[in-house]
Parts: sequence; C-alpha cells; structure tokens
Amino acid sequence: MLYNEETITQAIHTKWAGKTVHFLKETDSTNIWAKTLARDGAPHGTLAVTEFQSAGRGRFNRKWTASEGTSVMMTLVLRPQFSPLYASMLTLVMGLSVAQAAEKFGFLPSIKWPNDVVLSRKKICGILTEMSADVDKINFVVIGVGINVNTQSFPEEVADKATSFYAESGQRFDRNQIVAAVMEAFEKNYEKFEKTCNLTELREDYERFLANLNQPVRVLDSHAPYEGICRGITGTGELLVETEDGIVKEVGAGEVSVRGLYSYV
Ligand code: BTN
Repeated sequence: MLYNEETITQAIHTKWAGKTVHFLKETDSTNIWAKTLARDGAPHGTLAVTEFQSAGRGRFNRKWTASEGTSVMMTLVLRPQFSPLYASMLTLVMGLSVAQAAEKFGFLPSIKWPNDVVLSRKKICGILTEMSADVDKINFVVIGVGINVNTQSFPEEVADKATSFYAESGQRFDRNQIVAAVMEAFEKNYEKFEKTCNLTELREDYERFLANLNQPVRVLDSHAPYEGICRGITGTGELLVETEDGIVKEVGAGEVSVRGLYSYV
C-alpha cells in the first residue's frame, strides 16, 4: 500500500492539523526533523512523517525502533498562543486522540496515564512532546507519535510489553488512514483544550479510556513508593490516586511512573 506525502495528504480531512505533510523515506528522528522545520518557520499543524528512523527516541531518552513499512512515525508542529505552563497537557490530548483513532478502527484501547496507548495491556503507541519556549511564550511544540500498526514481531526485550494493530487483529491496516484519523481527532480535541487551557472538556473522554480507573495502582515514587486506587485525572492532567487513609493525591506526569498491580499497564 502506498504511503507517501501525496497519499497521506489525500487521506487527511482537517482544517489545519496535518494540512502540510512532509515525508521522508528515512530520517534520524521525526522530532529532530520537525524541530528544524519549525525553526525554519513551518506553520502550525505541519506534519513530518517517515518510513524509517535511524535515531528514533522515546521518553527518558530511550531508543524507539520500528522496522520499515510497519508503523506510523510522525511529528506534529504546533505554535500555541498560550503560556508554556500548559504545554505538557498536549501529550495527554494526543494520547486521547490516538485512543479515539484506534477505537474508530474497531479496537478497545486504554490509556496508561499519562500517554501510552495500550491494547490488551500492551503498548501500541508512544508519544514524545518537546517544546522551544521563552519564559512566557512558546516558540513551538513538537509532538512525536509512534504507532505499531502492521508490526508482526517485536525484539525480545519488549515482546511482552508491546503489541500492534496487526498482532491484535491479524489484519493489516492502511497507515494513511491511521495518520488521518489521529489528525482529525487531535484537531477537535486541541480546539476544545485551547479554549480553557485545561482538560476539563476532555476529561470525561480521557477517563473513558483510562487504564486502571477505580483499580489499585502502584505509584513508583523513587523516595517513597505507595499504592492506592486510581480515581481519574485532574483538569490539569495529574493522576488522582486515593490512598488507604482516604487522602486523594495528585500525581504529576514526569515525576513518577504508575503501574497497575498486575502488569506493565
Ligand atoms: C515513548 O513511549 O517513550 C515515546 C515514543 C515516541 C516515538 C515517536 S516515533 C516518532 C517520533 N520521533 C521520535 O524520535 N520519537 C517519536
């Protein structure tokens, strides 16, 4: 199935998200590439897509690898007018958008807070958001998204934690349609988010996908790990965890990692 600048552009029906698509057969990382495009003046909504990354990166500088022809690797350039303080919530907005896109293709996805999208408690999507900003003004934000679409097998070290649309369904999917579904969902969600710069309008949608809602979780705080019941998210994206003594703690993304008690998710 063809997958290039033209086929992706034709599939996307949005006002601005993914309106300009750049495609390379190979690059180091679409996030690095998108940052260069942004520095060179790329408009809000520009999308950089590749077929292969030689230096794909995830959160905590982990490697992100995917073999050619199997997955979606793309980065969206945004030029938000709001304060840099709100930018980290965009990762949750993108996680929600990918979950909604997966649902559209017939899957039952969950979100492992803050932003891993999972199927059958295994990861299908990772998101890496980066920002260039001054104290009170965002120059640009790039949101990198990696989705395992037609991946048939995974390296041994991640095989028990990763899955793909193909592995879950035995069907191959058209990546043009997946990119388009994510862009369409993201545009709608972003416009809701931008009105208030918080997640209040998206919270219900997000919590519908939230893994471990009302289930026990372990908060892997490096000083003092603890357990509690996951009670949803705040309007600013923190995870609510109710401890045994009835206190509801707000856990910030980036501070700690949260797991269900029984698996990676
Ligand atoms: C994570 O789960 O740690 C985030 C993974 C993000 C991977 C995507 S693939 C497209 C974009 N380019 C990168 O180098 N990283 C992101």
